Amino acid sequence: MNILVTGGAGYIGSHTCVSLLEAGHSVIVIDNLNNSNLETLEKVKQLTNKDLTFYQMDATNEAAIDQVFLNHKIDGVIHFAGYKAVGESVKKPLEYYQNNLVSTMVLTSACQRHGVNRIVFSSSATVYGDNQVPFIETMNLLPTTNPYGESKTISERILTDAAKANTNFSIALLRYFNPVGAHESGLIGEAPNGIPNNLMPYVTQVAKGKREKLNVFGNDYPTVDGTGVRDYIHVMDLAEGHVAALENLTEGVHIYNLGSGKGTSVFELIHAFEEANGVTIPYEIVDRRLGDIAASYADVSKAKLELGWEAKRDIKAMCRDAWNFEKNYVEMTIAK
Ligand code: WQD
Repeated sequence: MNILVTGGAGYIGSHTCVSLLEAGHSVIVIDNLNNSNLETLEKVKQLTNKDLTFYQMDATNEAAIDQVFLNHKIDGVIHFAGYKAVGESVKKPLEYYQNNLVSTMVLTSACQRHGVNRIVFSSSATVYGDNQVPFIETMNLLPTTNPYGESKTISERILTDAAKANTNFSIALLRYFNPVGAHESGLIGEAPNGIPNNLMPYVTQVAKGKREKLNVFGNDYPTVDGTGVRDYIHVMDLAEGHVAALENLTEGVHIYNLGSGKGTSVFELIHAFEEANGVTIPYEIVDRRLGDIAASYADVSKAKLELGWEAKRDIKAMCRDAWNFEKNYVEMTIAK
């Protein structure tokens, strides 16, 4: 199939492009390169020995999006493009709603106009809010603590209502848990700009000596060792989950948790990283981070039953591949 991938130069988008190309699909990427770089797409082509089509454009630009649909026969869309920093969203709510919601509406109406009925949407476990774990697709969502999470909840609602009005639509809403790691080659991976918000890229930068120590945000949660518990999933497992969702899509709206189904605490991740890579990660316990919940992990039975997909790579593989990328990654100062 010919698949349009918005945000395809980003962390999860680029890994999904690798899996799509390896599965024999053709890929058309649109990305504004605000939070990604062109070099990543070159590496995707190098890794797969396949070509892809790239347009530098914003996913909120309706005229430009329309032109892409006119230039290509598109069989399906995977929509990654969007802002995703929780803390930043609290400071810039209007930018988050504008970018994340308008891009979803622009893309969905273009699909409707051009008769493209397969849509896979990049959602997030954040939409569950501080629910009882394990999170299951049928549970009622609770308010999230931030505009980023709300933009994902509202985008899910937009797509659900569009599918009610257009019975040809086949839509998958994929709720990611905590994507970490990198392609085993170490050529592509997670390269956040500035100080990493997320745990794993912060740990790899401590291991590299770029950061002095890890600040552990609280050890007084009601969890196995007091630190936050999350469901980490290898980004290549996540990428393969997108291909499985796309290839098994049927009419209507289908929600799937994409996680490992296992909870790992911050201390457990530190120890796994140290054992997998033979390094020491110095850390200091500091106050809890505002908005954090104690535990988040998935019930993953639905994706296994309906998509025949489950995460295969364990926490040590995630730590090894994350470290392998960090060691190979050369900071690219890109003139913005
Ligand atoms: C994981 C655990 C922290 C950093 C967020 C978004 C989610 C998704 C993934 C987009 C928590 C602890 C972290 C640090 C720490 N993003 N931690 N020191 O918050 O679960 O999820 O990123 O889709 O939507 O909410 O991920 O990696 O930030 O935190 O102790 O320097 O590590 O308290 O327990 P989170 P995270």
